[in-house]
Amino acid sequence: MNVRKAIIPAAGLGTRFLPATKAIAKEMLPIVDKPAIQFIVEEALESGIEDILIVTGKGKKPIEDHFDANAELEGMLRNKEKHELLKIVEDTTNVNLHFIRQSYPRGLGDAVLQAKSFVGNEPFVVMLGDDIAKDEVPLTKQLINQYNTILTSVIAVMEVPEKETDKYGIINPGSSISSNLINIQDLVEKPNTEAAPSNLAIIGRYLLTPEIFECLEKQPPGAGNEIQLTDAIASLNQMQRVFAHIYKGKRYDIGDKFEFIKTTIEYGLEHDEVKSKLENYIKNMQLDIGMK
Ligand code: UTP
Repeated sequence: MNVRKAIIPAAGLGTRFLPATKAIAKEMLPIVDKPAIQFIVEEALESGIEDILIVTGKGKKPIEDHFDANAELEGMLRNKEKHELLKIVEDTTNVNLHFIRQSYPRGLGDAVLQAKSFVGNEPFVVMLGDDIAKDEVPLTKQLINQYNTILTSVIAVMEVPEKETDKYGIINPGSSISSNLINIQDLVEKPNTEAAPSNLAIIGRYLLTPEIFECLEKQPPGAGNEIQLTDAIASLNQMQRVFAHIYKGKRYDIGDKFEFIKTTIEYGLEHDEVKSKLENYIKNMQLDIGMK
């Protein structure tokens, strides 16, 4: 069955980015001039996804507004003949988007569970709203390509520094199927370095079979007293095979302050309008730092 649907959980509290996230969803923080969540939606569309459900929560109304038509703004841009800007604004509305609210931020697993009736009985992808991936082939498309061969769940993982395992779900890898596909023996959420079975961390893209919902419905709270998607995937792995796809591209967790700054600089260096100014600025700054 074709993978047609994506869920973007965006109902978290974003406590790592306070106070910016007190009233604004972290998924709406701009990377140069585009809200982070728009990168995720674009990746979904480039990967052939047809329907997207965004899980929102308190204070996340701007996400809905961002992807809705804005007649006043569009009319003003049309009158002033600002055609390029008009296209940019109109492009954000040409997407088949749906929204659902997670009443309480009980964890990523609970956010995904809100999508049960939207998903029905088909495989689907989960794309975290604060995780930007950049590669020649979009990461979601890479997962879909793997699924089309193995026809079972496959989640994206990448190597992280050993001292950072406590920030991620970590897999205990089994045998390799190919250079970028491996069996999973087990998964554990946020283990410290001593307890971590590897340094292969789950990043924000998952392709899951609908049986995950049975696991999520039974899942008690885990790390941080939240319903963890990782724990439910560990249960799914007992029922049917779950594979890990090793991702080699770039990935940015924009919910982390330093990563957010890095992302802004890297995207700025590719942005036609600002790249030459930014290059000069960085060169001068390096000279300043070098002199100190
Ligand atoms: P994070 O753990 O990075 O988000 O969840 P958080 O809880 O908002 O962040 P911090 O740790 O407090 O700073 C990953 C993704 O899952 C969503 C978040 O919005 C984010 O995109 N999420 C998390 C939900 O939708 N619901 C939740 O209950 C938790």
